[in-house]
Amino acid sequence: MEIKDAKFVISNTDVSKCPATGLPEYAFIGRSNVGKSSLINMLTNRKGLAMTSSMPGKTQLINHFIINNEWYLVDLPGYGYAQRGREGRENIRKIIDGYILNRHEMTCLFVLIDCRHEPQKIDLEFMRWLGENGVPFCIVFTKTDKLGSVRVRENIAAYKMRLLEEWEELPPVFATSSEKKVGRDEILDYIEEINKS
Ligand code: GTP
Ligand code: MG
Repeated sequence: MEIKDAKFVISNTDVSKCPATGLPEYAFIGRSNVGKSSLINMLTNRKGLAMTSSMPGKTQLINHFIINNEWYLVDLPGYGYAQRGREGRENIRKIIDGYILNRHEMTCLFVLIDCRHEPQKIDLEFMRWLGENGVPFCIVFTKTDKLGSVRVRENIAAYKMRLLEEWEELPPVFATSSEKKVGRDEILDYIEEINKS
C-alpha cells in the first residue's frame, strides 16, 4: 500500500475524548522504549511524525495520525516504565486499558516486543489480558538490526514456543527494524487486507 498522506490529528489523555471517526484504526503498544513511535514514522516514511526518544516514557498520550484520509495509526504510551513511580504507571495503564477496551474504531492492536529479549512476564501477562478481553492483536518484533539474522530467527522461534505453552494459535507475527526499514510492506499489506475486508 502506498502512503500518500500522513498527518498528526490530536493527542488525548482519555479515550472518551478521542474523535468519533468511524474509520478503522491500528494502534501500537508495548513496553516503553520498544520502538512504537519509531515504527509509526517508519511505516509512514515521515521522520518526526511521532515523537521518539532514547529515554523511555516519551509518549504519554493517545496520539491519532490520519493516513490517506481513510484510516488511522494510533501511538500509545508504553507500559512498565519503572522510573515513573507507581502512581504514574497506574495512570498510564488506565489510559492504555481505557483505549483498548472502549475504542470501537480500534481494528487491530500491534503489540511490540524487542527481539533481543527473552519473553518478559509483563508482555506475556498483557497478551493474556488481551486474549481474555477478545482484543484482536498481532506481534511485532522490533530492532532486528541490533542482532544477526540467525539470532533474530532463533529468538522469534523461542518466543513462539513460549506462547504456544498457553495459546492454541499464534497471532500474526512481524519482524521489523525501523532503522533499516524492515517489515514495512508486510505490515502495510496486512492493514490493507483488513481495510478491504
Ligand atoms: P515510549 O514512547 O517511551 O513508550 O517509547 P517508544 O516505544 O515509542 O520508543 P521510540 O520509538 O521512542 O524508540 C525508543 C528508542 O529506540 C529510540 O532511541 C529509537 O531510535 C530506538 N529505536 C526504535 N526502533 C528502532 C530500531 O528498529 N532499531 C534501532 N537500532 N533502534 C530503534
Ligand atoms: Mg513513543
